[in-house]
Amino acid sequence: MRSSIFVYVALMVLGGVVYVCYALSKPSGHNDTVTLIFSGAELGYLEPCGCSEGQLGGIARRDRFLQQFRANGNVIVPIANGNLIQDVSPQSELKADIGFFALADMEYIAYNVGERDIQFGVEHLSALSEQNGLPLISANLYQGSSPVFTSYLLHTVQMPTDIVKIGIVGLISPNFTVYAENADVRIREPNTVLKALIPELTENADVIVCLFNGTKVEASKIQDNFPMLDVVVVSNDKTEMLPSPVLPDRQLVNTSTKGKSICSVKIYLDINGNPIVEDSQQHLLGEQIPDSQRMTDLLALYQQMVADENLTGSVPRGEQDTGDPFVGSATCKTCHIEEWTSWKATKHSHAYHTLEVAGHETDPECLTCHTVGFGFSSGFLSVEETPNHLDVGCENCHGAGSAHIKDSNPTRTDYGTVTEATCLTCHTTENSPKFNFTHYFPEIVHTILSENAHETAH
Ligand code: HEC
Ligand code: HEC
Ligand code: HEC
Ligand code: HEC
Repeated sequence: MRSSIFVYVALMVLGGVVYVCYALSKPSGHNDTVTLIFSGAELGYLEPCGCSEGQLGGIARRDRFLQQFRANGNVIVPIANGNLIQDVSPQSELKADIGFFALADMEYIAYNVGERDIQFGVEHLSALSEQNGLPLISANLYQGSSPVFTSYLLHTVQMPTDIVKIGIVGLISPNFTVYAENADVRIREPNTVLKALIPELTENADVIVCLFNGTKVEASKIQDNFPMLDVVVVSNDKTEMLPSPVLPDRQLVNTSTKGKSICSVKIYLDINGNPIVEDSQQHLLGEQIPDSQRMTDLLALYQQMVADENLTGSVPRGEQDTGDPFVGSATCKTCHIEEWTSWKATKHSHAYHTLEVAGHETDPECLTCHTVGFGFSSGFLSVEETPNHLDVGCENCHGAGSAHIKDSNPTRTDYGTVTEATCLTCHTTENSPKFNFTHYFPEIVHTILSENAHETAH
């Protein structure tokens, strides 16, 4: 698995060379401004799923955006505020491999360890950092009496007339103690730790950036306590997207979640050598930004790894609540030909093909909503083993049907009641933001049905 990433490095280097030529052909920056780029809390979203139009984010757009930013003559320093991954499943481990590789390739210079990251354990995190040459920082994650990772980094940027030294310190909220205890590390009080580091930082850096994994309220307090911090960056799994990432009177940068946007601030030194921070912006990574080829290739490699490791086959499978196995839409067809014909004409009946077109047909994260009974012992496994469980079938809405088909008098059962809540298990705000039961229902209703069914709908 790892080796294939490194075979891939060869391609990356080639891409890099081509890109450098392109960048050099553009005019360079006209002044001594450095642009810091911040992101964080991707939570495993390396690319938009494509379930609806207008989705934001993805490393392929981010890469292209940064390339373009550089090509326009900006000197940029990308910095990551942690929580790239959501949990520690085998799929997340692959994502971490791919994600760290991508960040390093986009020339990120530091990664502040977040609470989700801690779940991987110190050893695994250190390996990711080492393999990709991406330094991890955290000033208040401790083992015994010493910090687990580097407390802060000094990054020097050589500008035409100035040298700008940027100090980057990483902190995490003490509220994440549970995550830390599981990984056998301790979280020290951030203010105490920072206080001890401030003399060194002010001595050595022109600009001090503090990365914080926690809430905005906590981050604001740190900022109040330490006015010498030039920029404070905050993210957590709820940092919502704001029209402006920055509170009006202060440089508190709020990264969005799920990689939907990146933030930038511009920094230059005034005539006395004091840093001026300005022009904080949030850049939405929308469809207007084309995907970079190298990240598209990397994501294809990721899908290949997902398939090669047979993650679909290794997903834990439980019994469904009722204990009834799924039987498949073809079995329902034998008695309900009208409903089947009606269903066949809806988009639900080719939801698996949609995944094939998207190149995600072996991705467990997609199969949950695009097949029947995924994650259950009698549900979808693979095209070969469970050909009757492709697509959004009858039993996705009506429930597993083996008891119903054996029932000698099915009219007496209350089998198969469908409510709006059934739809919402898949039509989530993330995957189907335009979902509206009144508009969506008529499109899937089994048209040849009794008037009763229609009345239920209205
Ligand atoms: C939580 C359930 C859910 C998951 C998980 C999910 N999808 Fe979807 N997907 C949907 C729904 C619901 C729609 C229909 C959205 C709409 O039209 O409102 C959809 C639609 C799509 C479409 C558009 C189909 C069309 O006709 O235009 C694509 C492509 C797609 N999904 C791909 C994926 C991929 C790739 C993944 C995994 C990365 C994925 N989906 C994971 C629920 C899901
Ligand atoms: C052996 C024949 C047979 C099979 C196979 C069968 N059904 Fe039925 N089903 C019936 C009969 C008969 C009724 C009651 C009469 C009617 O409403 O058509 C019924 C009723 C229903 C109802 C209405 C239940 C109610 O209480 O109003 C739903 C929904 C339903 N079936 C769904 C399914 C689904 C989904 C499958 C496949 C998992 C399926 N059926 C397989 C014969 C069958
Ligand atoms: C098991 C998951 C799941 C459930 C439950 C589900 N859907 Fe869907 N739905 C999907 C997926 C996936 C798609 C996209 C299919 C495709 O085009 O590949 C979709 C597409 C649709 C579309 C087509 C949207 C478009 O872009 O044209 C409509 C309409 C729809 N669903 C309505 C409903 C309604 C109404 C319900 C509840 C009664 C429901 N769905 C329940 C997964 C689900
Ligand atoms: C997207 C969700 C969805 C899918 C997929 C779906 N149905 Fe339905 N079905 C409904 C809804 C909603 C109703 C009408 C409301 C109700 O009776 O609960 C209904 C009604 C029915 C009824 C008649 C109930 C009655 O009162 O007359 C039958 C029979 C039925 N479906 C069978 C099927 C079969 C067979 C399939 C697969 C070929 C299927 N359904 C696929 C949502 C779905």
